[in-house]
Amino acid sequence: MGQTLTEKILDDHLVEGELETGEEIGIEIDQVLTQDTTGTLVWLQFEALDMDEVQTEVAAQYCDHQTYQFDFKNTDDHRFLRSAAGTFGAHYSRPGNGICHNVHKENFAAPGKTMLGSDSHTPTPGGLGELAIGSGGLDVAVAMGGGPYYIEMPEIVSVRLEGELPEWATAKDVILEMLRRLSVKGGVGKIFEYTGPGVETLTVPERTTITNMGTELGATTSIFPTDEETKDWLSRLGREDEYVELTPDDDAEYDDEIVIDLSDLEPLIAKPSMPDNVVPVREVAGEKVDQVILGSCTNGGYEDILPAAKMLEGRTIDRKTDLIVAPGSKQASEMLAREGWVAEMMAAGVNFSEATCGACIGIGHVPASDSVSLRTFNRNFEGRSGIEDDSVYLCSPEVATAAALKGEIVDPRDLADELGDMDAPGIEMGSKYGTSADDPDLIAPDEAVDDDLIKGPNIGDVPLKDELESELAGPALLKMQDNITTDHIIPATQDILMYRSNIPKLSEFTLSRVDDSFAQRALDADGGFLVAGENYGQGSSREHAALCPMFLGVEGVLAQSFARIHKANLFNFGLLPLEIDADDYEQIEQGDDIEVVDDVAEAVRSGQEEFTVRVNDDWELTATLDASERERRILADGGKLSHTKKQAESG
Ligand code: F3S
Repeated sequence: MGQTLTEKILDDHLVEGELETGEEIGIEIDQVLTQDTTGTLVWLQFEALDMDEVQTEVAAQYCDHQTYQFDFKNTDDHRFLRSAAGTFGAHYSRPGNGICHNVHKENFAAPGKTMLGSDSHTPTPGGLGELAIGSGGLDVAVAMGGGPYYIEMPEIVSVRLEGELPEWATAKDVILEMLRRLSVKGGVGKIFEYTGPGVETLTVPERTTITNMGTELGATTSIFPTDEETKDWLSRLGREDEYVELTPDDDAEYDDEIVIDLSDLEPLIAKPSMPDNVVPVREVAGEKVDQVILGSCTNGGYEDILPAAKMLEGRTIDRKTDLIVAPGSKQASEMLAREGWVAEMMAAGVNFSEATCGACIGIGHVPASDSVSLRTFNRNFEGRSGIEDDSVYLCSPEVATAAALKGEIVDPRDLADELGDMDAPGIEMGSKYGTSADDPDLIAPDEAVDDDLIKGPNIGDVPLKDELESELAGPALLKMQDNITTDHIIPATQDILMYRSNIPKLSEFTLSRVDDSFAQRALDADGGFLVAGENYGQGSSREHAALCPMFLGVEGVLAQSFARIHKANLFNFGLLPLEIDADDYEQIEQGDDIEVVDDVAEAVRSGQEEFTVRVNDDWELTATLDASERERRILADGGKLSHTKKQAESG
């Protein structure tokens, strides 16, 4: 039987296990990526593991999330990251140089390589045939030290693209259509492999918009085959020698198939406050818009912003609507500037920002209260924009720009009819891309300016957990509903994120958006459990969302289901993730006494799957631990850091 593209790459990198769906496999990692909000912990963990040099082909540290150095803590973090990159042998991308996925795509991503990144949108370079997976920072630290990355072999789903996108429909509409059909849980345990004749009609930047936002489906990753478009993209960057032809075998078998006829697509929009709340733009036309932002790792490329610039040329935006453009990389800004497009956009009323994640996580350009914001970003979870009662819509650059011109949501086809002289901009590739060789903001390991770690006063150590105990009991500290995100667990807003390297302080904010008395209650209880509905921990790879509850003494989470990366992070920090059924979830109340009846340490080590949980000494439920043998050893040792240290000590 032939192989899918995913299987070919995995086969090339396989160090443990077999490519059977559901089996745990270990793969070798070629490239790693980390960013500023997760990176400090990655390096502190790398140091705690007594590693002294990066072992992967490429390791890159980007400063992109919190780039405004308004507080010394943040600047200290950037300096620490530069020193860690220099000391251990990674590339360092300065604040302002751009968003990790965009800069990585431009400089390092290559067909056939594997990549692990401590950011949930790591799958972005799947658009050029790299198998890229998001994970917690500790997994990245271990991979960077040369260790394999372990994952349950996902199902491989073919997304067959047919036809060609009509005018005004874009790659963003392809992925919004996937979200409309499958929901934010539809990709859990799956890799989406794009196939079919429609693939060749899409450029690499369009493909990376789709693979980037495969994360919102909960997918492990998404990938495209390589072809002349991929070769063209790499050539423009001066990296044509990295091109490899990669296609699935003709007789490859997939676990499932989804068919999308591109020619049927129209401009779509995700309504507040979930990326799968997707409707045709025309359905919400007329809604007044206060703010529009173009950018992010989904649509922040030169090829994403150029269409907006063309639509804005010679026009001015509505006086009641702000339009902010924050490109995904300095390279994109520079190209737009050299071609005069920045001046055109400014003349139209654009507030042109530095290349940063910024507003995507509520850092800068926070919407006004009770207002509507349209963004080309990938997620619109409630409160993520920096204000609790936000109303954020997600759409393509074309739809966003049309709204800025009109002051209200409008299908760009209708606006074009109304204006009479606005053509569909389509996609145009740039003629002069730069490369890392001439980028002063991307410092290669052999140009490093530091060879020792520089830690400011806000940078602490990583807490370690003791081995799992035999008895686990404590109160249900908090009961939460479905789809709790890592933003709920540890918000990524400016005031909170600056404590990312100071775990005792950061922990004070744990779940504060759900219940602001939680952290103190957890500390007082000195043990206990979190209770949640479906898809607990969806959203980002932020390992602080497991580490901070661990620091507060939380022992485990009882949930109906878990998001993939967060569940791995719970193992990595020694928290017991138990699955419970819907009826039991309904019955548990916050404050109930929870006791795991079994000898927990022994049961975890011996491979026991079902656990008896007693509630209030009154009734019992059966909970399931779905974990590989390796995950069980990690859990029993008190988390991956303790586990890896223990392994190293025992030789
Ligand atoms: Fe940054 Fe938002 Fe992407 S935080 S990495 S632009 S999802």
